[in-house]
Amino acid sequence: MFDIRDAILADRLDALAGLPVPESYRAVLVRKDEQDMFEGLATKDKDPRKSLHVEEVATPELGPGEAIVAVMASSVNYNTVWTSIFEPVSTFGFLERYGRLHDLAKRHDLPYHVVGSDLAGVVLRVGPGVNRWKPGDEVVAHCLSVELEDPAGHDDTMMDPQQRIWGFETNFGGLAELALVKSNQLLPKPAHLTWEEAAAPGLVNSTAYRQLVSRNGAGMKQGDVVLIWGASGGLGSYATQMALNGGAIPVCVVSSPEKAEIVRKMGADLVIDRSAEGYRFWKDEDTQDPREWQRFGKRIRELTGGDDVDIVFEHPGRETFGASVYVAKKGGTIVTCASTSGFLHQYDNRYLWMNLKRIVGSHFANYKEAWEANRLIDRGLIHPTLSKVYPMEQVGQAACDVKNNCHQGKVGVLTLAPEGGLGVKDTAKREQHLPAINRFRGV
Ligand SMILES: NC(=O)c1ccc[n+]([C@@H]2O[C@H](COP(=O)([O-])OP(=O)(O)OC[C@H]3O[C@@H](n4cnc5c(N)ncnc54)[C@H](OP(=O)(O)O)[C@@H]3O)[C@@H](O)[C@H]2O)c1
Repeated sequence: MFDIRDAILADRLDALAGLPVPESYRAVLVRKDEQDMFEGLATKDKDPRKSLHVEEVATPELGPGEAIVAVMASSVNYNTVWTSIFEPVSTFGFLERYGRLHDLAKRHDLPYHVVGSDLAGVVLRVGPGVNRWKPGDEVVAHCLSVELEDPAGHDDTMMDPQQRIWGFETNFGGLAELALVKSNQLLPKPAHLTWEEAAAPGLVNSTAYRQLVSRNGAGMKQGDVVLIWGASGGLGSYATQMALNGGAIPVCVVSSPEKAEIVRKMGADLVIDRSAEGYRFWKDEDTQDPREWQRFGKRIRELTGGDDVDIVFEHPGRETFGASVYVAKKGGTIVTCASTSGFLHQYDNRYLWMNLKRIVGSHFANYKEAWEANRLIDRGLIHPTLSKVYPMEQVGQAACDVKNNCHQGKVGVLTLAPEGGLGVKDTAKREQHLPAINRFRGV
């Protein structure tokens, strides 16, 4: 493994094709024999530091259309939090189901699950039939794994019946020294970014792009008022940038003065600190309070000068969904990709149908959308929002930060990279974008 790392650090990328693929590598994983370890505990008491382990695992066999990547850095997504607390279900069920699909997929059904849905690194080997990529290519990977053997997936690959999120519903994810991906997950690494910066946007940036910008999502246009929940978080920090540089008007919801300051630094003027305003959309477990929806809507109108919301960028779910449906304007869109606070939503349907609003479901992104989202990063139109970086050994703490909502933007993890700050190839371009790149680190 160290030969590989040395070759990458010395920029001798052409040497990689001649180096043997190691038989094993270190990886972040959860164990099947521990999947019941948190049974009976409340979600808040489930601790990713207890379930995420760093262990040596066997390198999987390389199949047709696949690539093995030497991973320099990865990042924590909320899906790794879900995997680590075995909620809403244990991800071993996904691996078992995938394993039943065909002979090659059987590799994924193991007593451990190597997690992680982002990476930045260098291609080490490609399998038969891969022509676009070769050993030595510097890459990032998006997390859409598809089989594409069904016509349903050939218009929009997210519609493939065998669509899976790599490193969540498949094994051999990116929080590791090596990763196995399908070659159509690979994208060029932006040359002005470090390994850890390049690994940060992937999943959330592509998701926000489909959800907000793509015609498969809300199809945002210039002048739209966009309400963005968690505007300094993983998804929200990219949605905010897309709204700003797409000519829309973001109304950013955050939960502290520090987070408000971050979104202001990004250029958003209209900010609601939900903690300071003390919204209580639920009177008790079962009853919502429409007066609080109204108070929230009034605050939005004050900020926008009277305009209501064209698009609500939803992901908190149960806690906020009733308010989101209420504040969307007549004909407006509530576009949702998650339910962090609970997936059984409740809203008053009268506001939806009488006002011809639409609820749109969105999930990750197809290859084209992921490519377009990565291109925005590459061109410096959207910037990584990396606030903190941990070594792989401390991945449990990194996941805890995200679970406990005490992070901003994205939390990075160094895998093969011995330290942060490496991997930049285009220093002039970096210089140009450095203030924006550093925004989330408080630099
Ligand atoms: N379907 C997909 O393809 C997809 C892709 C990515 C993520 N997701 C899901 O989307 C969710 C968010 O992911 P993320 O990466 O953005 O996570 P994140 O980095 O934790 O950011 C989420 C933000 O939402 C806000 N929030 C959390 N709970 C809230 C509540 N009860 N009410 C209002 N705001 C709340 C928080 O901001 P404030 O505290 O500042 O308000 C938090 O920073 C997760 O459930 C994740 O699994 C789905």
